[in-house]
Amino acid sequence: MRQNPLAVVILAAGKGTRMKSDKPKVMHELLGLPMINWLLKTVETLNPERVIAVVGPDMLELEQAVSPHQSVIQTERNGTGDALKTVLPALEGFNGDVLVLLGDTPLITQETLNGFITNHQQISVLGVKLQDPTGYGRLLMNEDGTLKAIREEKDASAEEKQVQTVNTGAFCLNTDKIADWLSQLSNDNAQGEYYITDLPEIAARDGIKTNIHITHNRQEVQGCNTRIDLANLEKAAQIKRREEFLTQGVQMQDPDTVYFQHDTKIAAGVIIEPNVFFGKNVRVEKNVHIKAFCHFEGAHIGENTIVGPFARLRPGTEIAKNVRIGNFVEIKKSTIGKGSKISHLGYVGDCTMGEEVNFGCGAITVNYDGYNKHQTIIENNTMIGSNANLVAPVIIREGAFIAAGSTITTDVKSDALALERTEMEIHEGWAAERRELASRKKKS
Ligand code: UD1
Ligand code: MG
Repeated sequence: MRQNPLAVVILAAGKGTRMKSDKPKVMHELLGLPMINWLLKTVETLNPERVIAVVGPDMLELEQAVSPHQSVIQTERNGTGDALKTVLPALEGFNGDVLVLLGDTPLITQETLNGFITNHQQISVLGVKLQDPTGYGRLLMNEDGTLKAIREEKDASAEEKQVQTVNTGAFCLNTDKIADWLSQLSNDNAQGEYYITDLPEIAARDGIKTNIHITHNRQEVQGCNTRIDLANLEKAAQIKRREEFLTQGVQMQDPDTVYFQHDTKIAAGVIIEPNVFFGKNVRVEKNVHIKAFCHFEGAHIGENTIVGPFARLRPGTEIAKNVRIGNFVEIKKSTIGKGSKISHLGYVGDCTMGEEVNFGCGAITVNYDGYNKHQTIIENNTMIGSNANLVAPVIIREGAFIAAGSTITTDVKSDALALERTEMEIHEGWAAERRELASRKKKS
């Protein structure tokens, strides 16, 4: 068991120039959650006494994401060593171990961090061996297996670049020496920055060896510097999420084509066919069958319901149990009651639909008048005929029957038939005469 109190520092002030984005790098999302929040969630499980993030000036959005934890501002981005220096006043009064993490390495796990800090003494670095170490600081070793120095890519010789064991960016430092060592950093390097990675050499001058802890889980310590890195991290996080759902009893024929968010909730026994996208805030109850090519966001799907193929559920959709949502159906901000069926080609928006409603093929709610949205209420056991337009605000009372093709602009009473069409005319022989006339015209 660990004895020392723990503080966690997350370095996140970098502009993320290589991302070519207006957003702070660590605000880019993985599975819909900003990178910084992935890290915060993980470090909170370590029960640290303090969590401090180093942010840049004008990064209010980031400070809010970090809150209730403390943010300190690094005014000029002079490197990771300088960033850690900025935290010293916030560490005043704290004695123990300081775990320093990089905000752009978001998928590191609690297990790895626990292993790392448990083995720590004065100064420790978390390393990993990579097939392709390009871009990472290399761990240069002494003959006796101790750490000699960490060499950044831009400062490394051709020979040093061959080293495959690299710095993941995670350090652990005891507060005893931290201020003293940081004051000795110099910016005499290719980038003119103060590197946290120079600390092992400075510690060695005091006769203190840096402990190296190697993790074998390469994916979780991948850093994010570019949009390509971001896409790779997303891929890794999706794979992990799919495995979690499969383990929990969710069935997927082709998991690689199903995309989840960090907050997706799916009960055991749900079947998901290929090519389904879950946006933020979706909850699916047991025994739901999701057919191929669906897109969901902010929706709750009740037990035993069948959705799709090709259905779109937008935010504010509440679907009860035993419902049938078929192909090319879009639902927005609506409640669909138990046993109702919207089986083909429909739009339901701003609607409260009761139980056992049959919402026919091609029927729609006309919820928008060009300025405002209006409500449609459809009570239990109603039959909405194919291709009907329900012009909101409108109420269809229990058991009513809306004839196919009708445009309904006023409320319909319980058990009534509402029929709104021009009277049908039949002109016998008309088509044959027209054909004859047209073919004569064409010849002349
Ligand atoms: C850094 C390490 C490298 C390691 C790699 C792992 C240094 C000098 N290099 O390189 O050894 O292999 O991470 O991914 O530490 N930051 C600040 N203030 C600054 C500069 C950076 O807060 O002035 C923050 C950034 O927001 C980022 C993190 O520190 O979250 C790392 O900075 P980055 O520029 O991405 O360093 P790398 O080049 O990836
Ligand atoms: Mg980086």
